[in-house]
Amino acid sequence: MSTTTHPAETHGGPADPTRRDFLTLLALSGAAVGAGAIAWPFIDSMEPAADTLAAGEPIDVDVSKLAPGQQIVVVWRGKPIFIVHRTPEGLQTLQDAKLVHNLSDPTSKVLQQPSYAENWHRSVDPTFAVMVGICTHLGCVPTFYPNVSATDPAPNWPGGYLCPCHGSKYDLAGRVYSGVPAPYNLPVPPYHLAGEKTVRIGENPPGQTFDLNSVVQI
Ligand code: FES
Repeated sequence: MSTTTHPAETHGGPADPTRRDFLTLLALSGAAVGAGAIAWPFIDSMEPAADTLAAGEPIDVDVSKLAPGQQIVVVWRGKPIFIVHRTPEGLQTLQDAKLVHNLSDPTSKVLQQPSYAENWHRSVDPTFAVMVGICTHLGCVPTFYPNVSATDPAPNWPGGYLCPCHGSKYDLAGRVYSGVPAPYNLPVPPYHLAGEKTVRIGENPPGQTFDLNSVVQI
């Protein structure tokens, strides 16, 4: 079993929009990723073996230093994976009727997640969100705006993600809003908690089966 990954080691050419925007996100991480940028040195110190990355094997991410409200981004199978430590307030917002009313698929009916994440928080443990950070419209990397704001990045913002390419919005569970270009919620990869503070990405919980390739759209 390997440890966390280093984003600079991802693969993909200049024509790959996901790769392109992921690099843009990294370049802007101080501003765009916000608190998540604090966690980068932590990730950098734990590079996995190159053969592990190439094989797409499960990776373990130590989230013990991830404070409430922060996000880190790791790479698994060449894809950016968002891991968010959600606050109690953020979790409460996910159940707010006003927010739910504005979502396209609030109960995750479309196959964009494993059955064990088909719930209101779209996760194994409500505290930690784990999502593929690729917009389901055309593949850009949504920007993390975790804080409630009256104006930024949009009016009456409850916390979530805004795609920098065409303005699709997602909540802190990766649920897409209605009336935006993106058609589906952000995918949830196979994962489970392999210890109190370790997220193992790429491996289902015992007794569960789910293949990320089975989702409707990445
Ligand atoms: S790629 Fe995200 S809105 Fe178009």
